[in-house]
Parts: sequence; structure tokens; C-alpha cells
Amino acid sequence: MRVSQGHTVAGAPERKASNEWEARMGQVDFSTLEHQGWERVAQPYHTYFGDLTTQSNPAMLDALGIGRGARFLDIASGPGYLAAAAARRGADVTGVDFSAAMVDKARRVFPELEFRIGDAEDLPFPDDSFDAVGISFGMQHFPHPERALAEAFRVLQPGGRIAFTVSATPDKAVGFAMVLKAIDEHGTTDVPLPPGPPFFRFSDWEESRRALLDAGFVQPVVREVDQTLVLRAPDTPFHAVMRGGVRIAAMLNAQTPAALASIEQAVAYDAEAYRNDAGELRIPMPCVLASALKA
Ligand SMILES: C[S@@+](CC[C@H](N)C(=O)[O-])C[C@H]1O[C@@H](n2cnc3c(N)ncnc32)[C@H](O)[C@@H]1O
Repeated sequence: MRVSQGHTVAGAPERKASNEWEARMGQVDFSTLEHQGWERVAQPYHTYFGDLTTQSNPAMLDALGIGRGARFLDIASGPGYLAAAAARRGADVTGVDFSAAMVDKARRVFPELEFRIGDAEDLPFPDDSFDAVGISFGMQHFPHPERALAEAFRVLQPGGRIAFTVSATPDKAVGFAMVLKAIDEHGTTDVPLPPGPPFFRFSDWEESRRALLDAGFVQPVVREVDQTLVLRAPDTPFHAVMRGGVRIAAMLNAQTPAALASIEQAVAYDAEAYRNDAGELRIPMPCVLASALKA
């Protein structure tokens, strides 16, 4: 199924999303949806996804060759995990995120590190000011990811490296697959969301490679990195994305109460296949890691 293409309501009588929701979504653009969303979910994102996205930090820092003294920029830093992992390797780190709530969260979790408010598509840094930049699970949230890559290119010094991660496609990222399948089967994707770039665009290795080359980078390398979403009862991937996410959460919020309850139940049913003896759900959520060089 598609997540992202800005479906408008076609007046389907069975879909009873509230007038209030339609009015709100009719007024916001994609960037505003994302910004308002991340401002709301800084704490639940940390709770549900903090132990997931950090799993690919070592692979990204290896791809970037981060070592002692490297000037490193964590773009779309969220609660600051990647910046903190780079700092543990001795890098001189800065995090930047457009959400004040996320920057606040990062400053609380990692008070010794520097985090700034700023837009990935208009970075508040001079040219050639970093040796490496990382974008951990940010690319699918930018309205114009090409602009973000151009900005990353600008602030990197020649010889510097970029890397980004995005979720793998739903056939591999099982948690997303469960929720999207349940929406397809029990709800509707025909909801009034503002148009945005395809959520899984950069999950396509060739597309990531092409975008890096188009931005002026060379020697792109793309690979997959294993990650596992670990949840404890009563949480399932439904609760993780509903409470800690933005775009799929917006799609869930637009469902009727009855459809939403069915979606929640369907995800709970599918998730049981991934419960271990300790009672935890361990759900495969691999990511795509793309990296390249500014020659
Ligand atoms: C999925 S979270 C990733 C957080 C963190 N990097 C991680 O790996 O867990 C996406 C982050 O991107 C930020 N973000 C989205 N659009 C942005 C933009 N245009 N400029 C800067 N940050 C942005 C959000 O505020 C949020 O913190």
C-alpha cells in the first residue's frame, strides 16, 4: 500500500473520519504535518523507537569513518542518539533538528552535547564546516530530500562523508507491514493527508544511490542493517507507530473508531507470532544504510 501520496477524501460514505480532522488536515501542508507531529511525540518516540534506531548507529559511524576529533553533524537528530554515539568515538558533534521538543529532549538526554534547532533543507552552518554528516531515519520526513542532500553536501568539506538510514521496505520491516496491512484490510488509505514524498522512496537501494550521485557525491555504497523492534505487552507495533510516529499515526488517526479498533486487534493478532519465551515481541525492522563521499 502507499503511505504518503496525499490522498484526498473522495466522499466515501463509509469513512467517517471527523469533520474536525478533515478541516485540520485540509489546512496543513506536509512540512507542517511533520513539524507539528514531531513537536508532540518527542517522549513517546524516545520510549518506543530509541532502542530501535540506535541499533544501526555503529554501522553508520563505521561507514562514515568517524574517529577522534572528526567534526560530525547529526541531521534530524531527534533525541540525539547518533550524535551521542559519535561523541563516544571521540568526535566533536553537533545535532540539528527542526523540532524544538526534540532538541529539548536531546539536551536533556545528552546534556554534554550541542543540539540546535534548524531545518535539514536550510542548515544553519557555513560551507565546508564538517568532516561527516549522518541522517538517521530523517530522509523520509523531509518534504524535499534533494534539498537536504544538497545542504549536507554544502556543509561537508571536500573529502567528507555522508550517510543516511531509512526503514527497509515493508516486506522486510515487519512492524510497518503489520500496521499497513491492517489499515488496508480494516480501514482506508483514502484519508485527507497532505501530499508528501513516498515514505519508502529511499528504501529502494538504486534510488538512494541515484539521489546521492545527483547531489554531487561519489562512490555511493548501499547495504541493509538488521534491527529488531522489542516491545512488551500490551504494546504492539500499532501502539509504537500510533504514539511515537507521525505520518502513519496521522493515517491511523483519520480512521473511524470502529476501524481503528479492528486495526489494533489485527496487529495484536499478527504480532503474537513474534513473541518469545520471555513474553517480549521481537519484530524484524531492518534498515537501508546509504553512504557516499564528497570528492
Ligand atoms: C524518525 S525521527 C529520527 C530521530 C533520530 N535521528 C533517530 O535516529 O532516532 C525523525 C526526526 O527528523 C526530524 N525532522 C523531520 N523533518 C525535519 C527537517 N525538515 N529538518 C530537521 N529535522 C527534521 C524530526 O523532528 C525527528 O526528530
